[in-house]
Amino acid sequence: MITLDHLPEAPIANQPFEVSFMVRQHGIHPMADLTPQVIATHAESGETVEATAHTLTDTGHYSTTLTLPHAGQWRWSIQAFTMETVLPELDVLAESSNNAGQNEVQAWPIWLGMVGFIGMAGSTVLWWRKRVWWTTLIVLTAGSIGAMGVAMTVNHRTAVAEKPPLVTESNLGNRLFVAKGCVTCHYHEAIETDTISLHTGPDLSTFTTSPAYLRLWLKDPAAVKPNTLMPRLNLSDAEIEALIPLLAPSPAQASK
Ligand code: HEC
Repeated sequence: MITLDHLPEAPIANQPFEVSFMVRQHGIHPMADLTPQVIATHAESGETVEATAHTLTDTGHYSTTLTLPHAGQWRWSIQAFTMETVLPELDVLAESSNNAGQNEVQAWPIWLGMVGFIGMAGSTVLWWRKRVWWTTLIVLTAGSIGAMGVAMTVNHRTAVAEKPPLVTESNLGNRLFVAKGCVTCHYHEAIETDTISLHTGPDLSTFTTSPAYLRLWLKDPAAVKPNTLMPRLNLSDAEIEALIPLLAPSPAQASK
């Protein structure tokens, strides 16, 4: 069973990112001395990238870096021992969408609007003083430039505000259910995966409980049931919160 330390968030083409994970036999015993292979395939072109993971100091913990050369959807899996674990698809961004920040609000439409209106004010004064016909043309042109600037500012800001986040809360939970290896032991009808389930744990499709209970359970199952077969997966608080809507759907969360 494979548990990713972190689900890679918004990887960028040609930029190496770290992939580290735990390998446990039957979901329980950490497995040492493996040479796990991370294999990624570009959905569109079929191009394949492979990386061999090396051991970290703690038993069963492995790491490697992966560099995906193209933007788009990548299917990927980790092969360790005899198991192949298929992970949630990666949505790789193009290099240009890097740091400059595709979601940034740009200032130039505001400047355009300001220049236009200042021009209009200036030329109105000119028209007032001289009363020549062509100054009205300048007033009108400057006015339209100003209006255009305003329209573009509004347009641009709404477009930026409407951009959907890359990962929504609900599918983050679904992706973690796969990436953390829950799928190896639990079936859940909401989860699509190619990983073979051992069905060690109960079917969670219709399981519901309180968020408070899940916070305790997922943090450390053995603290709740001392002899449980469910391992402690070292989930972060944020990861637990993301898993809660999947396992403790409540009216409050459904309307969120
Ligand atoms: C190695 C197998 C294994 C893995 C991996 C695993 N579980 Fe479990 N899980 C179990 C078993 C076995 C039980 C039954 C617990 C018991 O009663 O001892 C269980 C029980 C549960 C329960 C029910 C708790 C209860 O009190 O009835 C939930 C919820 C749950 N698991 C969620 C998860 C989630 C979420 C993950 C991934 C982060 C996960 N499990 C990973 C084996 C596993």
